[in-house]
Order: sequence, then C-alpha cells, then structure tokens
Amino acid sequence: MRLIFLGPPGAGKGTQAKLLTERYGIPQLSTGDMLRAAVAQATEVGKRAKAVMDAGQLVSDEIVNEIVSDRIDAPDCAKGFILDGYPRTVPQAIALDRMLESKGLKLDAVIELKVDEAALVRRMENRVAETIATGGTVRSDDNPEAFKRRLTEYREKTAPLSEHYAETGQLKTVDGMADVEAVTAEIDKILA
Ligand code: AP5
Repeated sequence: MRLIFLGPPGAGKGTQAKLLTERYGIPQLSTGDMLRAAVAQATEVGKRAKAVMDAGQLVSDEIVNEIVSDRIDAPDCAKGFILDGYPRTVPQAIALDRMLESKGLKLDAVIELKVDEAALVRRMENRVAETIATGGTVRSDDNPEAFKRRLTEYREKTAPLSEHYAETGQLKTVDGMADVEAVTAEIDKILA
C-alpha cells in the first residue's frame, strides 16, 4: 500500500498516518520529521533547512526529493509507505511520479484532509499547550507568525496538488473536521 496524505498544516496528516502504520505495518514517511531530525543532528541538510522551517517556508524541492528517494529504498518500505507532508509542490509531485516509475512502483491513493482554517489555528494552539503540559519541546514553527506563513505556503504551493491528483484520478477527499476516529473510519472505507 502506497499512500499520500495531503492537507494544510494541522489537518491531521501525521495523526492519521501514525494510525495507519499500525494497521498496515508500513512506515510513515514524514518529511517534516525527517527534516527536524536533520536539524537536531546539525547535518548539512539540517543546517540549510533550519531557518527556512523556522520561518514557516518550504525547504527546496531538491532537498526533499532526495531525502524521499533515498528513504523509499529502505527495506522497511518494501511493502509500502505513507507519505505525510510530501509532495508539497507541483514540481515535487512530478519528481515523485518519475521516482516511482523509475523504481517500478505505483501509488494506491492520495487522501486529502479538508479542514476549516480557523480550526487549524486552534489545533496548533492546542498542540503547543499539550506539549508544554507534558514537558516536551514546542516546535519552532508552531507560533502564530510561522503558522500564518505555513498556511500561505500551503495555499500558494500545495493546494494546486489537489487538481494534479484529481486529474490522475487518484484523489480522495475526507472531512478532516470530524473527530479523529471518524476521520480514520472514512479513510478505512476508501482503502477497503
Ligand atoms: P510538517 O512537519 O509536515 O508540518 P505541517 O504540514 O505543517 O503539518 P503538521 O505536522 O503541523 O500537521 P498535520 O497535518 O500532520 O497534523 P497533526 O496530525 O500533527 O512540515 C514542517 C515544515 O517542514 C514545513 O513548514 C517545511 O518547512 C518543511 N517541509 C516538510 N515537508 C516538506 C516538503 N515536502 N517540501 C518542502 N518543505 C517541507 O495534527 C495537528 C494537531 O491537531 C495535533 O495536536 C492533533 O492531535 C490534532 N488533531 C489531529 N486530527 C484531529 C481531529 N480530527 N480533530 C481534532 N484535533 C485533531
């Protein structure tokens, strides 16, 4: 099973991807998590990505395409994978199409989580409050200024992907405003 989750920041891509990894035994490939790990380890990629991520902007297509291409060659992706936060631009989607073709792989579905923007800001605020309450480290891009920029980047660069995948016939849309369990149930129906 090879899936893509599309949706704005805070739509629930990571939440749903994690639930599916348990059910299908395939890994969640979150480019955000991979980039945050690179920043934490101060790798060359991490050093280049840090300021861009902190500002809520997108890291270059070249960097993320390479990270994903390497990652899907790993043995744990042999049965499939869930892409969470990639692709995020039309050039990334085109690169992914080529990447999969060159590896002899096909996508099974692209699932878009539709959510009202006002709810997204509240979810980000909740996540910050929960992280603080549990003694964790708040994401450096979970603040009002960077979040606003993340939403703008989404509208300008990522939202056009819905049309890209509608044209290929792979796009499925789910109401991401429902509670987590109801969203999971909708996704299960699509994948059944
Ligand atoms: P990334 O880490 O991908 O962040 P994001 O897309 O902004 O998404 P989030 O992780 O904030 O949200 P989510 O949709 O996963 O929601 P979640 O499940 O966490 O990217 C961060 C940065 O990395 C980017 O800005 C960019 O700089 C860089 N980057 C990453 N990929 C890139 C790429 N491909 N190209 C270029 N740059 C890239 O849920 C959010 C909250 O809501 C949680 O608290 C959760 O508990 C809650 N929640 C979830 N579902 C529900 C629900 N149904 N009802 C109520 N609450 C819910």
